[in-house]
Amino acid sequence: MSNLKHVAIIMDGNGRWANRRLRPRIWGHVRGSGVVSDIVQSADDLGIRALTLYAFSTENWSRPLEEVSTLFKLLKKFLVKEKDRLLANNVKFKVIGDIRSLPADTIELIEEVEKTTRNATGLLLTFAFNYGGRAEIVRAINSLQIENPDKLISEEDLARSMYRPESGDVDLMIRTGGEQRISNFMLWQAAYAELFFTPTSWPDFTPEEFRKIIDNVSGRERRFGATSSRVALKQTLSQAEKNRSIFSQGTLHHV
Ligand code: FPP
Repeated sequence: MSNLKHVAIIMDGNGRWANRRLRPRIWGHVRGSGVVSDIVQSADDLGIRALTLYAFSTENWSRPLEEVSTLFKLLKKFLVKEKDRLLANNVKFKVIGDIRSLPADTIELIEEVEKTTRNATGLLLTFAFNYGGRAEIVRAINSLQIENPDKLISEEDLARSMYRPESGDVDLMIRTGGEQRISNFMLWQAAYAELFFTPTSWPDFTPEEFRKIIDNVSGRERRFGATSSRVALKQTLSQAEKNRSIFSQGTLHHV
């Protein structure tokens, strides 16, 4: 089981993958959408708690209309094809981002899948669609100000006002396609994320590569701003705290 609870992926490189094969860019998205189910299954198998996939950014509107509408259609197609499997696999599904500009039937479908999977207790699967990290933070601040205009906003307030707070902080952000940017994705949640950039284009990304990345990153030391020795000290103190509490409750025989 992986110690990485929340993994976020920027599924990049679809257009270039298609162009290299002398096919239109949308072909890359079509092939890329086929990879999504395998990676969702793989995340579930690896015991990852939350998987967030960047499927359409607020900046993607500037692409040719045909490409934009293909991405909308692929989202719908995925949901039609996978909704029963998501439910059967205990996956709790949600779309984050401003979905109001999507076609009405797609919005209905999203809401239906969110509703039918709302009591699921397994993988938290999130598609970021018409999503921007800055827009998410601004939305959270505005909602907090409306809720309580006189209160100073804390980090905890902001964290619980993100689109999907239960997914928590991102532990690992992967970007396929060779670019090394985070492109306005999960800006708040990725503050301490490990970053992994692979040259593999998304349509060629496999569960095997995903597993290798998870293994590689699981072995990294995460210091959250502290030095190695501080991390070791923190672990020691936290172990000491646990031991103390076990002894003080007199529950040692249960351990
Ligand atoms: C970036 O690749 C990718 C996107 C803008 C969209 C990613 C979407 C999918 C993989 C399909 C969506 C599927 C579902 C199920 C919602 P790019 O086109 O920018 O690639 P490039 O950098 O090579 O041009």
